[in-house]
Amino acid sequence: MVTGASGGIGLEFAEQLAKQGYHVTLVARGGAKLAEHVARLGTGHRFLAADLSLPTDIARVADDVRATKYDLLVNNAGSGVYETFAEGPLEPTRAMMRLNMDSLVELSHAFLQGAKRGDALMNVASTLALLSFPGAAVYCATKAFVTAFSEGLWFENKPRGVYVAALLPGVTKTNFHDAAGGAADTKPPEAISQTSADVVSVAMQALEARSSPTILTSFTNKAMVFFSTRVVPRKVMVNMMGGQSPVKPKAPQLSS
Ligand SMILES: NC(=O)c1ccc[n+]([C@@H]2O[C@H](COP(=O)([O-])OP(=O)(O)OC[C@H]3O[C@@H](n4cnc5c(N)ncnc54)[C@H](OP(=O)(O)O)[C@@H]3O)[C@@H](O)[C@H]2O)c1
Repeated sequence: MVTGASGGIGLEFAEQLAKQGYHVTLVARGGAKLAEHVARLGTGHRFLAADLSLPTDIARVADDVRATKYDLLVNNAGSGVYETFAEGPLEPTRAMMRLNMDSLVELSHAFLQGAKRGDALMNVASTLALLSFPGAAVYCATKAFVTAFSEGLWFENKPRGVYVAALLPGVTKTNFHDAAGGAADTKPPEAISQTSADVVSVAMQALEARSSPTILTSFTNKAMVFFSTRVVPRKVMVNMMGGQSPVKPKAPQLSS
């Protein structure tokens, strides 16, 4: 099962897994897109249309995970909310937290309870899990949660022969930035961007090797993580990241 498989990294997972002979169940909200992808991927694939920010839909997909006994679950569905935290309404942020954390925990639990030796669980986090990004403060915190959670599960499940990992892509060319409400002129530079195909190829190699709890997807990302977490003081790094914020500062209010 791959969640968030109607586009971007999730669709790439579905395609590469299908090429390797897996029968894939694709999950996302957009049923029409999923139906098209399933038809294109060939026989043996299926989809579930579900909004994984809604507890009822999360429960329905978790039931399917328990009933189907998948070999691999890729918890990829995730979204961002780009805003200055105190200036926006809280509900979009709550929905993002339910999607990025609650659904991932529920589906991981349903999967791991029935998992057998050789199975694997991959949870998609982000290099931003290791940093703070003003303008996406809660998003970063959700990805820090996914990373710490998955690393703990990696250790717990090693003795059972079940591989768990957190995948930490850096900037990847998908619909993510637009969906998060990022302004066009705050898009991260092309030079540091990977394609979904690059990211998923690295993830597929990691699924073969089954060694690391935390997967970084390029040399550039590894260098940036090293620099930002081991070289530069944290305060300096937060200030640097604030300068790259996807939220444009509002024009100052003029007092009359
Ligand atoms: N792109 C990046 O730079 C980047 C970097 C690091 C990590 N990531 C992570 O990579 C993962 C995939 O993101 P992406 O870059 O491929 O973004 P994307 O192109 O926006 O794809 C997101 C996928 O998640 C699905 N989705 C969104 N909200 C959902 C919901 N409420 N319920 C079910 N499915 C939902 C979307 O389909 P529907 O809209 O049809 O539901 C889509 O299939 C995310 O967890 C993201 O945080 C992305």
